[in-house]
Amino acid sequence: MQKGAIKVTKAATSKWSSTDFNNLPFGKLFTDHMLIAEYKDGAWGDPEILPYGPLHFDPSLATLHYGQSIFEGIKAFRRKDGSAAIFRPYENLKRFNKSAHRMAMPDVPEFHFIEGMKHLLALEDKWIPNADDHSMYIRPFMFGTDEVIGVGPSSRYYFIIILSPVGPYFSKPLNIYVEEQYVRAAPGGVGYAKTAGNYAASLYPAKLAKDKGFDQILWMDAQEHRYVQECGAMNVFFVLDGKLITPSLDAGTILDGITRKSIIDLARSLGKTVEERDILIDELVEGYKKGTLTEAFGAGTAVTVSKIEVLQYKETKIRLDASKMSIADELKQTMAAIRNGSAADSLGWMVGIKD
Ligand SMILES: Cc1ncc(COP(=O)(O)O)c(C=O)c1O
Repeated sequence: MQKGAIKVTKAATSKWSSTDFNNLPFGKLFTDHMLIAEYKDGAWGDPEILPYGPLHFDPSLATLHYGQSIFEGIKAFRRKDGSAAIFRPYENLKRFNKSAHRMAMPDVPEFHFIEGMKHLLALEDKWIPNADDHSMYIRPFMFGTDEVIGVGPSSRYYFIIILSPVGPYFSKPLNIYVEEQYVRAAPGGVGYAKTAGNYAASLYPAKLAKDKGFDQILWMDAQEHRYVQECGAMNVFFVLDGKLITPSLDAGTILDGITRKSIIDLARSLGKTVEERDILIDELVEGYKKGTLTEAFGAGTAVTVSKIEVLQYKETKIRLDASKMSIADELKQTMAAIRNGSAADSLGWMVGIKD
């Protein structure tokens, strides 16, 4: 199928003119169209763009019962020259298909994922926000569509892309609870896959932390509860002894974040020392006491770079001064400049929606 051959059925009405672009709640508002493709009889059908709207299924939809569902989060940005570009979508395609493999689902073709996304964005171009810290959040997802009770991989799937214009995810530095009782992922499990169940399992511990006044949980390793992993929707970085450190991906328990890998590459290109390694929570506590732990921040598509002001571990409250986190500021600003086209894209990250 060639570019330009995606069938489009236009929505009869648009929500665009009634949307308040100065007040975009995260993930609650969707554009007028969606892209959809169906997998059945062992092959993908052509992707199609349809008006955004409800899907109809039987109550026996296996995905509702057994959770065979994966997704991605990507952003497109309005550039200074008025064009729009997507941040590293090929990385998301790779990760999506890794998640698909782990969940016994079929690979999604590059055409459906990349060209489908570009077509949809080009159709919805006027929806892409044009303000600092604003962007178009792109949500590709896939789920089994067999209507059957019984555990087993579905024989049919839907691949869908929806779009949501968004502003900032967090409006202030974060207050984080270091979780020691509940775990997010264990070696051999599905921690590296972006699959629905990982998020479902996090809701209860996250609710308990929220009830205590925290914004997010910092997960620890499943065996010893001593090694730092990641937060609910972001990877984590610390500046310890002047070095930027982040947990390594070796155990397969952490999501291989696209923002994480971009921060690592960017920091190295700016001459900073970066270490991907096991990080003991005790090291951070000790660094805090000695004054060598100077910064902590989360990195993710939705949250971009979000500073962590408080880390509560047992009785210790690590309190950092967000206004002095110069490395986080530099990385966030440099990343934003590459995304909006005011700095050169020397690492080749941006993909124009009309390329
Ligand atoms: C659990 C988890 N970790 C990390 C991330 C960050 O990944 P990325 O930078 O690819 O968005 C996300 C968000 O997507 C996430 O849900």
